[in-house]
Amino acid sequence: MSLKNISPTKTSSWKTLLTHFKDIKNSRIEDLIHNKNRIKNFTISNGDFLVDFSKNIMNDKTLRLLLKLAEESDLKNAIRKQFEGEKINKSENRAVLHSAIRSSKKNKIYVDGENIIPAIKNSREKIKSFTNDIISGEIKGFTNKKITDIVNIGIGGSDLGPTMVVEALKYYRSRLNPHFISNVDGDHVIEILKKLNPESTLFIIVSKSFATHETITNAKLVRKWLKNKLGANSVKNHFVAVSSNIEKVKKFGINENYIFSMNDWVGGRFSVWSSVGLSVSLSIGFKNFEDFLNGAQIMDTHFQSSSFNKNIPVILALVSIWYNNFFGSETEAILPYSEYLQKLPSYLQQVVMESNGKSVDRDGKKVTYQTGNIVWGNTGTNSQHAFFQLIHQGTKIIPCDFIGFKQPLHKENMQHNKLMSNFFAQTKALMMGKNITQVKKELNNNSQDFNLAPFKVFDGNKPSNTILIDKLTPKSLGSLIALYEHKVFVQGIIWNIFSYDQWGVELGKKLADNIYKQLGQNKYEEHDNSTKYLLKNYLKK
Ligand code: F6P
Repeated sequence: MSLKNISPTKTSSWKTLLTHFKDIKNSRIEDLIHNKNRIKNFTISNGDFLVDFSKNIMNDKTLRLLLKLAEESDLKNAIRKQFEGEKINKSENRAVLHSAIRSSKKNKIYVDGENIIPAIKNSREKIKSFTNDIISGEIKGFTNKKITDIVNIGIGGSDLGPTMVVEALKYYRSRLNPHFISNVDGDHVIEILKKLNPESTLFIIVSKSFATHETITNAKLVRKWLKNKLGANSVKNHFVAVSSNIEKVKKFGINENYIFSMNDWVGGRFSVWSSVGLSVSLSIGFKNFEDFLNGAQIMDTHFQSSSFNKNIPVILALVSIWYNNFFGSETEAILPYSEYLQKLPSYLQQVVMESNGKSVDRDGKKVTYQTGNIVWGNTGTNSQHAFFQLIHQGTKIIPCDFIGFKQPLHKENMQHNKLMSNFFAQTKALMMGKNITQVKKELNNNSQDFNLAPFKVFDGNKPSNTILIDKLTPKSLGSLIALYEHKVFVQGIIWNIFSYDQWGVELGKKLADNIYKQLGQNKYEEHDNSTKYLLKNYLKK
């Protein structure tokens, strides 16, 4: 049984929410927050996570109706179907089982009649022994030198997850230096190669299809570089591949022992938990990698077993739907108050926007409501000095997720308090704003300055969620990523779309292949006027 087709706009809760929206849209968060049950009803703690969603333009009734929307969308069954391995990715005829790779509990999950758990265990074991052997120096390069540098070559889900996690967990580094090549831009590749000694570098080609032109082009360029430096026989000692296309991997010249497989029931953007995370395991050591998987598993259990009103991913998804579909907010900001998490927003852009950037429902019909939101962001406090002006005083409502940690990874507590005082102050400032009377008072009722007053007013009433985590560890990072993965899933269920395909990236890929061939033949006539004009001028160089 696949997912049900339930149009959200046809549910009774959606209809009631539309009327309720008119009643509540002008309410002030600072008034709503006075309710004596606000903190009890609008916060959730689970393990080392505390989520406060009380600074939102919602009351108990809003929450009740949103929770009813989740029930009416058959979310409970959808969650079960996903975790049990039903083929909920119907448009690709695949199960969606990234949760199975990080699970240490289940003994049996069947896909096409085959229990996938033994293969998952074997794959983990292989990551473990390879990681340990590279770090200990047991496995060496072609000239018998220890490996010192690893380079992940991949793009999209085969790059963004590993890059983000390796950066986020820099504090927990092994002795290896990680690098990442993704863009087909030769400048990117050449700049990284300049830093490397071929004798002590291991290249990890990550491509589920082993056909993505950026990755294969870059891998071939790197292979040429290596052969020039160490000779053709060195390839088998310095290249590893992570892929589901074993035939193509072998043709590339990769040593059979250095092939890590991938399965079609793990989507690229959800694959960092699998052997795609090999560069993560090498960068932080297998023990930390395992903690990272365990952290995700903790969030999986929370998501599967908590009632919806105390379920972090469900609540964050519903709050987001409230702004996206009722207030008409187009974007959401992700604001981690940790420099380690600087790549989290761009990682989440793929998870969120490739998943829910869809405009037909599960019946193949055009939707009549908004779906996937645009996510963006940067670290605090840097972003306070960049785009916060627009969040505070612009014309748009931009719901924000503030992510911060109670304990720093260093011992400078005063410095951490400084960072975190900004974290707390910003969510408060966004909520409270500053009215004209306060501004005038501050200007000391000096009539000369009164014309400045309107510019200093903050409307306030800007919503935010606060995610406060004990400490940035492999475990808590695993939980954080799994939280957002499940949020995306919940939203896709409620919007009645397929979140796990990505047909939208195909068209551009095909056209680029065609144009690439034509560039070699100096041909451009068949194109529309604009493209023809551009190609003609490009070829004049
Ligand atoms: O951008 C499209 C996409 O298919 C992503 O979903 C995927 O993560 C990326 O390309 C890379 O694909 P592959 O791992 O097959 O090289």
